[in-house]
Amino acid sequence: MAESESLPSAGRKVEEAKVSASPESGSTSVAAQTLSAKGPRQGKMKDLVVKLHGQDRNLGSFPSKLHTDLRHVVEMLRRGKRPRFAGERLSLLEEALSSSSYRSMEELRHQIEAWREAERAAFDADRYYDSQRTLGYTEHNRGSQETLTRRTLQLCSLQTDSVPNKAENILAVDLGCGSGLSTVVASNLGLATIGLDLSSEMLRSSEWGEVSSTRGPLAGERIRGDLAQPLPFRDGVFDLCFSVSAVHYLVQDSLARTAAERISALTSSLRKILTQTARPCTLQAYLTRDSNAVESFRQVALRDGWGLCELVVDQSHGQKAERDFLYLSQQAEDRPPRCVLYEHAQATCALALESWTYRTGAPHPVRLDAAHRAWLVREHDRYARRMLRLHKRCETGGSLDHSAPLGPEAQTLADRLAAVESTEDEEARLSMILNVLHT
Ligand SMILES: C[S@@+](CC[C@H](N)C(=O)[O-])C[C@H]1O[C@@H](n2cnc3c(N)ncnc32)[C@H](O)[C@@H]1O
Repeated sequence: MAESESLPSAGRKVEEAKVSASPESGSTSVAAQTLSAKGPRQGKMKDLVVKLHGQDRNLGSFPSKLHTDLRHVVEMLRRGKRPRFAGERLSLLEEALSSSSYRSMEELRHQIEAWREAERAAFDADRYYDSQRTLGYTEHNRGSQETLTRRTLQLCSLQTDSVPNKAENILAVDLGCGSGLSTVVASNLGLATIGLDLSSEMLRSSEWGEVSSTRGPLAGERIRGDLAQPLPFRDGVFDLCFSVSAVHYLVQDSLARTAAERISALTSSLRKILTQTARPCTLQAYLTRDSNAVESFRQVALRDGWGLCELVVDQSHGQKAERDFLYLSQQAEDRPPRCVLYEHAQATCALALESWTYRTGAPHPVRLDAAHRAWLVREHDRYARRMLRLHKRCETGGSLDHSAPLGPEAQTLADRLAAVESTEDEEARLSMILNVLHT
């Protein structure tokens, strides 16, 4: 399939379609242009050109009346979803694709995946974050990155709603620090924090002025380095390592090395640079979007000598959106329970992890802030009530609305919830619910 590297020449009619962008997810904007031409049999034919995964791609010549639907198809396939078409509309698209070089929607999907892989393999954070992207990123993500960093540090056993005692004695490194939105939180808490990032523009951002004015020793110190290479620090120096929205970039092959080699450069050197009494490391990243990412990371980390590499899913912003955290600990005979709320990701949750760290006498237990803990408890309670309602409807043959009937495992769970439902002491009831939901 030929790819057009540049836009079509002047003098031909060009129509532009909508742009949607999400650089953090590794996805690219889709802008489509169409060129006028005459098709011999199907009426007016036009080349369909979409900007996809970093380049303009000429998908070939299609009837112009199908272009809007085809753009929808491409966008859905790019997002890994099925196009929402059926009946004759779908048949027309399938027919048009069958006489193109793709032959079918399935082949088009394979091609889009191949383009995505090629783009990810060639990804270079230093090139990607130019001055405009750095500015845009920093302006738009200030609040959300601050919240994510607080959650990350709480999993590392730092109290973030007050300045921790003796924080000055903690030497921390922020891996993939970017323009300092994450570093500033740690530095404000009084931690001596060094940032590391591959992007020169991110490290040059004026945001670092704010980091430098915080109370933490070493405020504003940062170095340029690649997380996919062994970390450039002496052994046994850091008490705390954390990362916010960065390490998912490692879980992909580059042009020269496999994802496993890139992850291992981080996980093996990360262990070495920690002191013997260091806190667990927490790496917030976008991992569950890629079905193998967590397992790849876990396998490499355990092979590199980590005792535990657990996925924690948290609704960090007190909303529906879920965020992924990898929790790495050097010692662990046991692992925390899974949380039924995040069963789809086979993950534990911040509440389950917190109580597990206290129960097992971990030297650095999770320290959620009170407001977020209370929100999470309410969410668990809401989940339990929903499940009980559904259970009762299943038993009485009532309407399930749009819910699927409970399977055998869920029924057992609902029976256990029913058994604690009427406990009068509210605190005891909630605690029993958490016990049931954390399995
Ligand atoms: C979404 S930003 C997050 C920045 C910051 N932690 C925050 O919370 O705002 C991701 C950062 O990861 C950095 N990054 C991506 N791949 C990297 C690599 N291989 N080595 C070091 N930094 C990398 C990028 O340059 C970028 O600054």
